[in-house]
Amino acid sequence: MVVKKEYLLIVDDDPGIQKQLKWSLDKYNLVFAEDRASAIKQLRRFEPAVVTLDLGLPPDPANASEGLMALSEILALSPSTKVIVVTGNDDKDNALRAVADGAYDYYHKPIDPDVLQIIIDRAFQLHRLEDENRRLVESKSPATAGIIGNSPEMTRVLRLIERVAPTEATALLLGESGTGKEVFARAIHQLSPRRNAPFIAINCASIPENLLESELFGFEKGAFTGAHKKTQGKIECAQGGTLFLDEIGDMPGALQAKLLRFLQERVIEPVGGRTELPVDVRVVCATNRDLKEMVESGEFREDLFYRISEITFQLPALREREGDVVLLARSFLHNYNSELGRNLLGFNETALKAICSYSWPGNIRELQNKVKSAAIMADSKLISAEDLGLDLLAEKDMAFNLRAVREEAEKKLIFKAFSYTDYNISRSAELLGVTRPTLYSLMDKYNITDERNKRAQ
Ligand SMILES: Nc1ncnc2c1ncn2[C@@H]1O[C@H](COP(=O)(O)OP(=O)(O)OP(=O)(O)O)[C@@H](O)[C@H]1O
Ligand SMILES: [Mg+2]
Repeated sequence: MVVKKEYLLIVDDDPGIQKQLKWSLDKYNLVFAEDRASAIKQLRRFEPAVVTLDLGLPPDPANASEGLMALSEILALSPSTKVIVVTGNDDKDNALRAVADGAYDYYHKPIDPDVLQIIIDRAFQLHRLEDENRRLVESKSPATAGIIGNSPEMTRVLRLIERVAPTEATALLLGESGTGKEVFARAIHQLSPRRNAPFIAINCASIPENLLESELFGFEKGAFTGAHKKTQGKIECAQGGTLFLDEIGDMPGALQAKLLRFLQERVIEPVGGRTELPVDVRVVCATNRDLKEMVESGEFREDLFYRISEITFQLPALREREGDVVLLARSFLHNYNSELGRNLLGFNETALKAICSYSWPGNIRELQNKVKSAAIMADSKLISAEDLGLDLLAEKDMAFNLRAVREEAEKKLIFKAFSYTDYNISRSAELLGVTRPTLYSLMDKYNITDERNKRAQ
């Protein structure tokens, strides 16, 4: 078998160096470029895995600006390419700046071919590993193929889903709004032997209480005014397949009893009917409410809770999925590019920082919406934090953090002063450099009680 040599692009305007590298790096398929424009041309043509880039390029070889610009263009076009920047010996600042901008590594001239070769080999190796990883993610089972996530938290949930899906267990999916509960419910169905039968979803919160019963259980002709003909309910429609009860926490009390009976006996009784109908459906439920707390407060039946939670999945919030947010953002952008006929290359550095530091209370749905509107709004090739509407939000988050940190510090210091003076208000106020009334109002604010006074009572 002939192994195809991998492409290595050398961007350098010095013919001597080009020649030297040609000799020493012959295990790679070398292609050359002598300035920014030709580098981009070669990149498009050969799609090299690794590029060595001299930062001092014409027309201004004494300055690194042309090289840094080439770097950002290369990475925007092909983010997975490993770029090794080559600089003059005294130009550490620009080398570090290039690494901060996304270069894989840097190397100082004069070139020692042996050392450079080691760096290049490592870059190819990393590129191969990342490539393999990407292919593995893409080759997942068709049911989970649309589910994006590489974080340990997500991988753990996916493994569990794969194990539980083929069983008949009633599964309960818990998670904040937008964490993908419906996506996972569908995956459970797809990975089960019921995949060719229907998947029927019903949102218990969106249907008025008086209609939900007939919607679920169906009704006989004449069961109520307007019941002109016998109608199947969703449970019966799911015969042989999976019934997804979304927002189960919003199921009214009276219906909870009827649902429990169905789950225990596996028969339904349509509204206005007297005959029982056996049904074979697998049930998956989801909610973003705290069902345990609802059980404690009497809003949700305890017996129903145990019935529906044979297996419980807690879907992590997006902010808890280390690294997934950028993966998802890129994938959504890819989809919106084709859906909206745009050709955006990615996110700029500040946008990526904002995406990573924002807390995403609306989770994946919020991320999807923000990327979509940014894809519509962006007027440069790279999406900015402003396009995402995250520039001001990030500031707000920061302001909030600052206040929280300050309050926490204030509270701690007050406790410290009190423990030092054994709750002597005047001395504590003196130590803290505030007046007595100010200290009293701070005690009020932080709910701090005067322990000495309490002891005396
Ligand atoms: N891991 C994921 N990979 C790709 N897309 C996802 C992922 N999780 C969720 N989505 C997408 O995010 C959106 C929200 O997902 P979904 O409707 O399943 O969330 P949910 O938890 O049911 O939300 P809600 O509580 O608001 O009903 C959907 O468009 C879904 O396709
Ligand atoms: Mg949902």
